[in-house]
Amino acid sequence: MSESHVMDLFRLDGRVALITGGTKGLGRSMALGLAQAGATTVICSRHADQCESAAVEVAAQTGSESVGFAADVTSEEQVQSLVDEAVHRFGRLDVLINSAGINLRHPIEEFPPDEWQQVMDLNVRGTWLCCRAVAPLMKQQRNGSVINVGSTLSAVGLANRSAYCPSKHAVIGLTKTLALEWAPFGVRCNTLCPGPFLTEMNVPLLGEPEKVKAVVSQTALNRWGELPEIRGAAVYLASDASSYMTGASLYVDGGWTAG
Ligand SMILES: NC(=O)c1ccc[n+]([C@@H]2O[C@H](COP(=O)([O-])OP(=O)(O)OC[C@H]3O[C@@H](n4cnc5c(N)ncnc54)[C@H](OP(=O)(O)O)[C@@H]3O)[C@@H](O)[C@H]2O)c1
Repeated sequence: MSESHVMDLFRLDGRVALITGGTKGLGRSMALGLAQAGATTVICSRHADQCESAAVEVAAQTGSESVGFAADVTSEEQVQSLVDEAVHRFGRLDVLINSAGINLRHPIEEFPPDEWQQVMDLNVRGTWLCCRAVAPLMKQQRNGSVINVGSTLSAVGLANRSAYCPSKHAVIGLTKTLALEWAPFGVRCNTLCPGPFLTEMNVPLLGEPEKVKAVVSQTALNRWGELPEIRGAAVYLASDASSYMTGASLYVDGGWTAG
């Protein structure tokens, strides 16, 4: 690696990044962060209108090119079309962030098996399908950074998350496997593990102040993360600033897993 100025290593100019779940919450914040660092962004969720409006907003706020492509990442065909469209449009794909995810909460004896499957289908299979679809291109480019979004619950358990916790533990296993599989081709894969951020995913908790308190008090900082606080880690993992990092898990969790 050349002796670049350290701040230049964080730049993403000329890079193309695909962000699943990029219309809302953490995915949207990370898309904005990557665009601020100079990346062209492809924003994906299941709803074309929301993809389009998120892309318009990211482009307006950053001056970087951004487009929205709708896809359900649990569909093999739609994931392939998404990657094909992105490559057709921009000729390359340097970064993939798998942020699309779901959390459903019940005691195990009340957990409907089809809801357990829904969590696994999106958090594990969807992530796996997207990794699978970008692999040939990134290997051929001999360059790429894939960021799988895990959770504090990739490392520890939490009551009533008997689908979500196993799904996020699986994301770490997938990441480590792909890090080994792709390293000879110059492609990196890491897991970014957020703590609690107040996104739509956590809205179901808000009616129950005791549960909110229980979640927030798990963090050493004793607060929710704020959406911009995920961006630094996302840009770091996407960029050459983390060029010697693969197979790793980076926790942005307010100190939850320190306890
Ligand atoms: N928020 C937290 O506290 C927290 C903590 C730890 C980890 N995480 C993880 O961070 C990631 C983002 O969470 P978030 O809180 O930002 O969630 P969110 O606000 O609920 O956003 C989820 C995003 O995923 C998209 N999505 C859902 N199903 C999809 C599908 N089948 N195909 C494509 N896109 C789909 C949603 O759009 P549509 O519904 O319109 O498709 C939306 O853009 C998740 O992997 C989550 O597990 C979150």
